[in-house]
Amino acid sequence: MPTKILHKEKLIPGRTSKLVLDAPQIASTAKPGHFVILRVDEHGERFPLTIADTDPVNGTISIVYLVLGRSTQLLEELEEGQEILDVCGPLGRATVIEKFPAPKKVICVGGGTGVAAMHHIAKGHHNAGNYVIACIGARNKDLLLFHKELSLFCDEVLVSTDDGSFGQKGIVTDLVRARLDSEGENIAEVVGVGPVPMMQAVAELTRGYGVKTTVSLNSLMVDGLGMCGACRVTVGGEMKFTCVDGPEFDGHLVDFAELRSRLASFRAEEKIEAENHRCHCFEKKEG
Ligand code: FES
Repeated sequence: MPTKILHKEKLIPGRTSKLVLDAPQIASTAKPGHFVILRVDEHGERFPLTIADTDPVNGTISIVYLVLGRSTQLLEELEEGQEILDVCGPLGRATVIEKFPAPKKVICVGGGTGVAAMHHIAKGHHNAGNYVIACIGARNKDLLLFHKELSLFCDEVLVSTDDGSFGQKGIVTDLVRARLDSEGENIAEVVGVGPVPMMQAVAELTRGYGVKTTVSLNSLMVDGLGMCGACRVTVGGEMKFTCVDGPEFDGHLVDFAELRSRLASFRAEEKIEAENHRCHCFEKKEG
């Protein structure tokens, strides 16, 4: 249904934005892990975005997106007060959140715009009474997302930047490894949300420690209903659909090589489409 943008915040100008949407029905039922599928206008394609936060009292949800292909460029062109043609959700399976008694802790790892989705999951663990350590990483301090928001409820927020401009110099898996070494068996679960190489690195790291690891996959989606097969992934040797079986899976069972290959071919198509879109706009302006 048409959904009004109540608030827009450019988190990283020209690159990443956050929208607060007037979506009371979704806000009243969405749980951590759920996502929505959007269609910006009647010519636009359907694409998924994970819900970064909900406010059931005020009837709003927050979504965060990286301006990458044509669809997110169209979304970025909308301003406060305008409407998105269709926002459908909540979709997918909610995060399975276990209550781990002290001194057990949960590490939530986020990279890129995945930090926004991780924020919702981390909040779910916090609300369940778990001790939450958030680990977030970026290339530099200007690209860090949700540091302030996570600091409001997480027990600890650890930061890494590639260039050392904020937090520890290095990559986010360095932070996780250090905690796994120092905390030993107190780490009950690691949750990873972000670029596929990051989630794969987290899963490979935690495998050696035997720690339960959950990743949230960002597969290509079309219908979001388990009918088209676009979002298929292999988990534990079985075919799964990210939209209805996920988006969260056991990170130690995901075939990341297959996922990376499918996403790479999709991005090549997206780039061509974005180029075509730009050319078309240019022609219209010239005419
Ligand atoms: S998006 Fe079509 S099966 Fe998942």
